[in-house]
Amino acid sequence: MRKRRVAVLISGAGSNMAALIDAGLAPEAAFEVVLVVSNIKGAGGLAVAEAKGVAAVAIPHVAFAKDRAAHEQAIDAALKAHDVEMVALAGYMRVLTPWLVGAWRGRMLNIHPSLLPLYPGLDTHARAIAAGDAEAGCTVHGVTEGVDEGPILGQVRVPVLPDDTPSSLAERVKTAEHQLYSRVLHAVCNTLD
Ligand code: GAR
Repeated sequence: MRKRRVAVLISGAGSNMAALIDAGLAPEAAFEVVLVVSNIKGAGGLAVAEAKGVAAVAIPHVAFAKDRAAHEQAIDAALKAHDVEMVALAGYMRVLTPWLVGAWRGRMLNIHPSLLPLYPGLDTHARAIAAGDAEAGCTVHGVTEGVDEGPILGQVRVPVLPDDTPSSLAERVKTAEHQLYSRVLHAVCNTLD
């Protein structure tokens, strides 16, 4: 079966993006990453993607001042120019407008470092530790208008250990994220028309 063409949107280091690129190289993968877009010009993930031979572009939101619509239209144009069929948000730290969400409804996923619906937003690991949770984890969900909402498509749980700091917990969750995202993306791409 033909591999689905995926774009990954990032704002930072892009470790999930790199894991998706690598997973997409497997012969049996239902997807391949063909484009990486960052809203931050110097995002570390852009160089990582280029080194892996994947087209990587910065479309900095600061260049569009407060015009969110124009910024998203530029992103959408890049997606279309690369014949993208599915979008994976991976550490893309900017809230999307209903326009872009609507344009890609059913074809846009996000990964979040908590067991949603627990802890949407930021500082998820510190909040899980402060709450005394025994477990933390990550979620891949379909993107809808609400932040970190949308249908849950997969989760992985990891233990919270007694000595955990937010960064040690984040590291354990990240390892789980890298497994989960490619698994869910593969499954979703297999269901596309
Ligand atoms: C990941 O932990 C991802 O779940 C999180 O940002 C990190 C990006 O890391 N996303 C969010 O918090 C979105 N709400 P990465 O750049 O190394 O993939």
